[in-house]
Amino acid sequence: MIIDGKALSAKIRGDIKEEAAKLKAAKGRAPGLAVIIAGDDPASRVYVRNKILACGEAGFYSVHKEYPADVKKEELIDAILTLNGDEAIDGILVQLPLPKHLNAEEILPFIDVKKDVDGLSAYQQGLLLQGTPDLISCTPNGVIELIKFAGVSIAGKDAVVIGRSNMVGKPMAMLLLGENATVTVCHSKTKNLSEVVKRADIVVAAIGRAKFITADMIKDGAVVIDVGMNSVGGKLCGDVDFDAVKDIASAITPVPGGVGPMTITMLLKNTLKSAQSK
Ligand code: GUN
Repeated sequence: MIIDGKALSAKIRGDIKEEAAKLKAAKGRAPGLAVIIAGDDPASRVYVRNKILACGEAGFYSVHKEYPADVKKEELIDAILTLNGDEAIDGILVQLPLPKHLNAEEILPFIDVKKDVDGLSAYQQGLLLQGTPDLISCTPNGVIELIKFAGVSIAGKDAVVIGRSNMVGKPMAMLLLGENATVTVCHSKTKNLSEVVKRADIVVAAIGRAKFITADMIKDGAVVIDVGMNSVGGKLCGDVDFDAVKDIASAITPVPGGVGPMTITMLLKNTLKSAQSK
């Protein structure tokens, strides 16, 4: 089974649009998202454009703030503080990566944790760690939705996450644990990685290396979720060798058209949730 992230995304976005319309009727305003981007990384620009377009399609209000690559830290912090106090804004997202001279750890903590729709703050990640999540990191949240959409029950399964970033790997592990999987997190220092992955019923690949997960690493019938977005010769390619692995896995996400569309959908979901909670 090829898990169709576009189809699931379209369905959820339809529901979100309805909820946004209801909120507007009740409160006189739509959910509002602000996206901040600094510099001109081409991939980041595409992602941000897609986020803004998705807001429009869902009937959300959105603000798009662009800064040059040499923007000062203080300028971004000022923008964040203004958006924190803006009643029309329910979610604030600073597109990553930031230009090299800026340190995300010195900027992101200025975002009001109740508007942290990326779920990257210590507060939101702490809630997830404690098992009482509120605004969950978008990509891992989308992965859980995809696994459930494929009809896979997670409880009791052996899940292996490859990658330990704050944005994907760590929250992914916590969400799978919250669904009662037995979770292993692998990373660049993991011994016998192939053997560990081969034991998994559910594999989530978030490495950032094209076709890193090969067919020989996958158990017959495993569920394989590919978070990778690698550009190979101008073509988008996942972390999984899709063509070979698809014949072994019981369900697998394609790249593109798997996890990618779900990330923006979960961003809309978090923004709606933040708006509804006011
Ligand atoms: N860069 C790539 N993916 C993301 C994301 O989900 N959020 C932010 N803020 N930056 C990203």
